[in-house]
Amino acid sequence: MSRSRLSGVVDTALEATVAGSFSRAGYAVRSKMEHWRPPGSLAGRVVVVTGASSGIGGAVADELARLHATLWLVGRDRERTEAAARRAHDLAEGATAEPVVLDIVDAGAVREFAERVASVHDHLDGLVHAAGALYPKYRSAPDGTELTVATGLLAPFRLTELLGPLLRRSADANIVTVSSGGMYTERFDLEHLVMSPASYRGTTAYARVKRAQVVLSHEWARRWGADGVASYAAHPGWVDTPGLASGLPSFAKLGPLLRTPAEGADTVAWLAAGAARREDPAYTEGFFHDRHLRGEHHLPWTARGASAADGPRLWEWCEARTGTSALA
Ligand SMILES: NC(=O)c1ccc[n+]([C@@H]2O[C@H](COP(=O)([O-])OP(=O)(O)OC[C@H]3O[C@@H](n4cnc5c(N)ncnc54)[C@H](OP(=O)(O)O)[C@@H]3O)[C@@H](O)[C@H]2O)c1
Repeated sequence: MSRSRLSGVVDTALEATVAGSFSRAGYAVRSKMEHWRPPGSLAGRVVVVTGASSGIGGAVADELARLHATLWLVGRDRERTEAAARRAHDLAEGATAEPVVLDIVDAGAVREFAERVASVHDHLDGLVHAAGALYPKYRSAPDGTELTVATGLLAPFRLTELLGPLLRRSADANIVTVSSGGMYTERFDLEHLVMSPASYRGTTAYARVKRAQVVLSHEWARRWGADGVASYAAHPGWVDTPGLASGLPSFAKLGPLLRTPAEGADTVAWLAAGAARREDPAYTEGFFHDRHLRGEHHLPWTARGASAADGPRLWEWCEARTGTSALA
């Protein structure tokens, strides 16, 4: 992950402005100054991508297909999920993509899906958690859990736990969770993670879950690193997607400053392809943006109280709420 002194200075300056870093400008400058190369071939590598029917997850699927991965593409909308799989087939000879239509907060459907993957493959090389949304108004999942927490935290926990044995059977599996720069505004606080209907604010609930996703991503690396599993969180910047338009319409007005889905997906696909650890074997976890490891706190108070016990506590919290045990 070496870079010239000049590109390091420019990167730091972009990062300090926030808007420069998160917008299309950040991607344009970094990708050109550092002459980003495509990650290597994924022929024979099996990767599951959630949120593949739209936006960033759809663009991640396209990029992994171009690299010849064998893909399982999860979405909720049948037509768009099947279209994503057809696109993957067309993008590269040798890429295979299976569309999987399910709601990730449906525990039974997720278990059935994990069993299906396990019936076909004896290992899994990648798992990308891109499904997610910002809900401006309070909503709950069928089990009563507030929907931001159910979708952004408990559902990825359940799926990862179920697929854990397969991931650990790959020599070098990569888990990538699509978090958000919004997480910089909130600290990790398990007691205030789930918002009540009375106190609910969509942007706050979203930022808290995005922060918790980063904590959980470290915990997967801590638990499974010895089995060769790397676990990253990534923030895509501000990306022009249907999710941004519905969840944060004020940001959607930034128009030409927004990244394309492919630009937002670049680092996610790069991590899922194992490129970070190939460039530097020390990079097996962390919070990435534009192919670089980033600090996890911009505001001093979000680091206050953070401790090494956060990951294990969050993991136990998720385990208790999902009641998930791994597939045998
Ligand atoms: N856009 C941004 O600027 C931005 C910035 C930071 C982080 N992110 C994160 O990036 C990820 C992708 O968002 P996006 O902007 O690409 O939004 P998007 O275009 O709305 O895509 C969201 C994807 O998540 C899927 N999804 C949501 N809830 C689901 C559920 N319960 N079950 C199954 N699939 C579900 C959607 O499936 P269907 O469409 O089939 O329902 C869709 O494929 C999210 O985690 C988001 O928080 C986005």
